[in-house]
Amino acid sequence: MQELRSSRDVNVDGFLTDALQVKAHLARYLCLSLEELETRLPTSTDDLADLHPGAFRPEDATEFYEDKVGTGHLLELAAWHLSSADYIADTLRLQGMAARGQVLDFGGGIGTHALSAAALPTVDHVWFVDLNPHNQAFVQQRAEAMGLSHKLSVHRDLGSTGDVCFDAVVCLDVLEHLPDPSAQLREFHQRMATNAIALLNWYFFKGHNDEYPFHFDEPSLVDCFFRTLQGQFLEVFHPLLITARLYKKI
Ligand SMILES: C[S@@+](CC[C@H](N)C(=O)[O-])C[C@H]1O[C@@H](n2cnc3c(N)ncnc32)[C@H](O)[C@@H]1O
Repeated sequence: MQELRSSRDVNVDGFLTDALQVKAHLARYLCLSLEELETRLPTSTDDLADLHPGAFRPEDATEFYEDKVGTGHLLELAAWHLSSADYIADTLRLQGMAARGQVLDFGGGIGTHALSAAALPTVDHVWFVDLNPHNQAFVQQRAEAMGLSHKLSVHRDLGSTGDVCFDAVVCLDVLEHLPDPSAQLREFHQRMATNAIALLNWYFFKGHNDEYPFHFDEPSLVDCFFRTLQGQFLEVFHPLLITARLYKKI
């Protein structure tokens, strides 16, 4: 297996080279050869959608992400970060502008942003939160391989992070997965330090071909989300992306 690099290589260039060695890390975690992994990545978006039962009740979301998805999101997110590397790299550049002190990565997936934040000298600690136990174990393993485990802790939910106030909140491509994204915004607001920055995006859409059946898209939910966002946060301009946005607390 390819030699794992050190935390010095965890940066945007390292991401653009090989998505921070995600294939080597994933092959190790899933006990697959690199060749076997390559055959699984192209179908990973469809495979994840196929896990979804169809009509999705909000009360089923926790069980879906915690128990049903299994390793499906690891493969789907790895394939996405590899195929959309330029976009993800811009989100990492944006994170580099905002991340400092205590950083929350909520719904952190395969850990691209959490690990990159942990490698920043401006960051003291990253709190990686994700419902999926495979995502938690994978990111813990990656942090150890990269020599970053002393700056990153892994959690199932925000409740298990204690009472830390966050200086930066990262929540990318997660809000549309939540049955109540407005409540999640309010919780972020409560846990943010006075001058904290939140880095958020959202995609309340099931896809043109229903490839994201688990995304919530009800108009009333989206209205409620924007009312909370516009009532409690002020957008901070940045020049990098129009999808991912920065906010401070009002
Ligand atoms: C589309 S992925 C995004 C991952 C990562 N932020 C990225 O940009 O690649 C959504 C993630 O949110 C997690 N998730 C869904 N509901 C959650 C919840 N209520 N609390 C924490 N994580 C959740 C899923 O397990 C999944 O890893």
